[in-house]
Amino acid sequence: MPGRIEALKEDITTLTVDAIVNAANTSLLGGGGVDGAIHRAAGPQLLEECRTLGGCEIGDAKITKGYGLPAKYVIHAVGPMWRGGKSNESQKLESCYRRCLEIACEHEIKSIAFPCISTGIYGYPKEQALSIALSTVKEGLKRMPEIEKVIFCCFSDGDYQRYRSLLSG
Ligand code: AR6
Repeated sequence: MPGRIEALKEDITTLTVDAIVNAANTSLLGGGGVDGAIHRAAGPQLLEECRTLGGCEIGDAKITKGYGLPAKYVIHAVGPMWRGGKSNESQKLESCYRRCLEIACEHEIKSIAFPCISTGIYGYPKEQALSIALSTVKEGLKRMPEIEKVIFCCFSDGDYQRYRSLLSG
């Protein structure tokens, strides 16, 4: 298991993996943060495909091709907005990670990189979000031997250090 999960400090749009995950919103029509960066790097065809998907529920995810990205696919996940913790945010965040892994399996994706979903514009407390991400991925990988590598792709030093300490603990 440890060899299948790693943390990296990188811009997720530069990663050569089978799939990168986008922290999208329910419209799937782009936005700021990592969503904006992915659309800029992938090019306008990504938005064209997203328009055909009819949006996405919170806690769910949908897949597209990667177009101009080095990654073959983008899995667009919609995380919860933080509302103080009493609106099932943890279940919704967990569901995002689980759905991404299920979709990855369906598409024979062997390597997948996640950003820290919901922890930017959506304001989810980082410690809690990262620990949910790791426990959900660990649980999923037990059932999905086909997935060889999961990368937690961090944009900040703080997130990278948090994952490093969670992974070594
Ligand atoms: N590579 C990796 N991680 C990144 C990158 C990048 N290029 N850019 C930002 N991050 P956010 P959310 C990190 O705000 O909180 C959008 O408008 C960032 O540091 O992108 O889920 C969507 O359309 C943070 O750790 O996503 C939604 O409306 C993490 O990505 C809304 O924001 C997630 O931050 C979603 O908010």
